[in-house]
Amino acid sequence: MEPKLLLTPGPTPIPPQVTHAMSAGMIGHRSSDFTSLMENVQSSIRPLFGTDHPVAILTSSGTSALETSMVNLVEPEEAVLIIVSGAFGDRFRSIAKSYPYEVHIYEVPWGEGLDIEDFKDFLASKQNIKAVFSQACETSTAVVHPINALGKLVKDYSEETLFVVDGVSAVGGMKFDMKADAIDCLVTGSQKALMLPPGLAFVAMNNTARKRASNNKLPRFYLDINKYFDALEDHSTPFTPAVSLIQGLDQVLSLYNEEGIEKVFDRHLAMRNMLRAGLKALDLELLVEDAYASPTVTAFKSDENELSHIKDALKNKHGITIAGGQKHLKGRILRIGHMGYMFPKDMLTVLAALEAILSKHRNKQYYGKALAAAQEAYYE
Ligand SMILES: Cc1ncc(COP(=O)(O)O)c(C=O)c1O
Repeated sequence: MEPKLLLTPGPTPIPPQVTHAMSAGMIGHRSSDFTSLMENVQSSIRPLFGTDHPVAILTSSGTSALETSMVNLVEPEEAVLIIVSGAFGDRFRSIAKSYPYEVHIYEVPWGEGLDIEDFKDFLASKQNIKAVFSQACETSTAVVHPINALGKLVKDYSEETLFVVDGVSAVGGMKFDMKADAIDCLVTGSQKALMLPPGLAFVAMNNTARKRASNNKLPRFYLDINKYFDALEDHSTPFTPAVSLIQGLDQVLSLYNEEGIEKVFDRHLAMRNMLRAGLKALDLELLVEDAYASPTVTAFKSDENELSHIKDALKNKHGITIAGGQKHLKGRILRIGHMGYMFPKDMLTVLAALEAILSKHRNKQYYGKALAAAQEAYYE
């Protein structure tokens, strides 16, 4: 009977009001009800992307938004530069390699922040880069990249070069300003800080990117973003959308507006700070330095046996699910998601459970230590 706690970096818990909205009953996607729903959604979703431009909604997972950004903004034979700092930078790389592009990769060691000066030199050594692709938050390592500084660098390199940002584990959990950050295209998915089930992908583009997309000769059909923007003019979608998810999205956006968007971002930062303080108090080493620590996901290290024990005990004894590492970080880290419908009290819950697990496992007294550190970080 005890409610379970899902603290993974996606999918994330759904607020009951959103579940309720999603079960309101089906409406036709060509009906006036749907048109007014889309109109509402459009006006309230833009602040989360930090833009006044329309945000296209696709019925597909986050990866489709990554692919959409690339196939609409880059022509065959053109050069792209991809920042690869984890599993999702790798995803951009795999997408790029599936198309006839010239692909340049800037590798960042997993778990480390991007060195902006080094990146500047790397970019300067490449010619005719048409677009630079980066994660805002690399979910697999819990690193955030310096998006604002990157955006400026890209535009210093060339005003013609587009800056494309994967905000899948960031939009809704951290502030964006597409203009100030020089982002031409920002994408995300529904199942992270947008507090929805998986199934929607979002693509925001400024006018420069829209123009590039409408002139692009690369063959594409479902992922042709022009179709979505054209349909948005009539508050519609080109294909049958996931109507219930959009009904839920409307509710998500009113919940975020009720809380206040700045407060939502502050809450995410507060959860990060609490968790980092608490984990340190448990003698757990954080994977990422403070300067690059994500407001939406936190990774910590330990030996493989201890990590496996922690993950199992959290799930089986405390009803809390967290995530393991991906690819070569498997068995080396655990990741705790703190985005969307998650709150400071959830951080206290997971830290209290970790105190109990580690006190027993290490035969050491941890009771109260992580909680005190987290509460100091939150209240002081
Ligand atoms: C940063 C980032 N990009 C892309 C994706 C891929 O999204 P999806 O699994 O919805 O296709 C994820 C999913 O975890 C992600 O965290």
